[in-house]
Amino acid sequence: MQLLRNYSLKPFNTFGIDVKANLFARFSSVEELMALLQLPEVKLKEKLILGGGSNILFTKDFDGVVLQNGIKGIKVVHEDDEVAFVKAGGGEVWHDLVLYALAQNLGGLENLSLIPGTVGASPLQNIGAYGVELKDVFHELEAVEVETGDLHTFAGNACGFGYRDSIFKREAKGRYIITSVTFKLHKHHTLNTSYGAIKDTLAQMQVTEPTIQDVSAAVCAIRQSKLPDPKEIGNAGSFFKNPEIPLLLFETLKLQYPDMPSYPVSETTVKVPAGWLIEQCGWKGKVIENYGVHKNQALVLVNYGGATGNKLQELAYAIIRSVEEKFGIALQPEVNII
Ligand code: FAD
Ligand code: EPU
Repeated sequence: MQLLRNYSLKPFNTFGIDVKANLFARFSSVEELMALLQLPEVKLKEKLILGGGSNILFTKDFDGVVLQNGIKGIKVVHEDDEVAFVKAGGGEVWHDLVLYALAQNLGGLENLSLIPGTVGASPLQNIGAYGVELKDVFHELEAVEVETGDLHTFAGNACGFGYRDSIFKREAKGRYIITSVTFKLHKHHTLNTSYGAIKDTLAQMQVTEPTIQDVSAAVCAIRQSKLPDPKEIGNAGSFFKNPEIPLLLFETLKLQYPDMPSYPVSETTVKVPAGWLIEQCGWKGKVIENYGVHKNQALVLVNYGGATGNKLQELAYAIIRSVEEKFGIALQPEVNII
């Protein structure tokens, strides 16, 4: 447990932004974290919890303490004939947890394969992909309260999960450090292949009776064909959330843009893919110096190497303005801008 000074964060964010933390420490147990929080230097400074840095855009040096979650461990804590409760340390790599579940033949996580980042960050925005969200498999989490050092347990209904949202992104932002998450996984599997691309990919794979392992393989193949690998091109996945708009506004827009895709959310609202809106504004594949908008997915901003967080933030604002002007829809960033 070492306090490192003036420490480069470039290897710790998938955008690859070159900024420094005034202080940096990695903790690998709850006890170590509690001890760190007691250090006078740490107590006095602003704190940022870092997992895999795959949903963060740094726009400047961080003049506080970055605490990196390194708590490992995955185990079944309780099981019966139907379900297994699997508890994972907050610093576990998310996809390693998915691989563990697949190896134990436990269903529920397969659609969430290959999402970058850590288990501890997964509740923050209720990660989701291909028709499944974290809340569908969530049992409870443990978190240390930054102010008091107390360990709390949160059940699902206390987390306020929504689309890419939870209390940890809103009213409880920065107050808790998630140290473990327990998932309720299933021994008898109900597959979710409702997302069209999964069905098509399984058909291409010539799989007629898919298993959870097949669904995971299909999801991995789709993701690899669409999303840039942060090891090759700096990015943080979808930069914006897909906006939910009133049905009335959608129906008006549809008269002018008959191809506008949508997904029903409720009787009065629909979700519109932000990637489509951004593409219609001409941004898809745009390269500005060493950064831009990905050529296969307009929702993903990319750093081709050496771009600053400020430049990417400016690009994000320019995109927000043009979508607002053309469609009257306000995009909201999904990525945490620091
Ligand atoms: P970080 O980026 O390190 O942190 C994100 C936020 O969570 C920060 O505000 C941080 O302070 C906070 N935080 C981190 N750890 C903790 C903790 N233990 N306790 C409290 N707060 C914490 N997301 C999806 O939902 N679905 C996708 O399909 C998806 N695809 C992606 C594809 C790519 C190529 C990339 C790069 C990203 C993608 N993402 C996706 C976004 C990202 O993977 C998730 O948001 C992920 O959960 C972030 O985890 P992380 O450990 O990297 O978090
Ligand atoms: N589209 C375009 N142009 C584009 C991109 C998308 O027209 O450049 C349209 C197409 O109509 C396409 C639709 O958008 O059919 C949806 O695209 P896609 O299936 O790629 O999904 P998405 O809405 O862009 C969301 C999540 C992803 C998640 C996928 C799969 C958000 C903000 N993004 O993307 O999550 O992996 O669905 O479920 O909800 C992330 O959060 O970082 C992330 C990658």
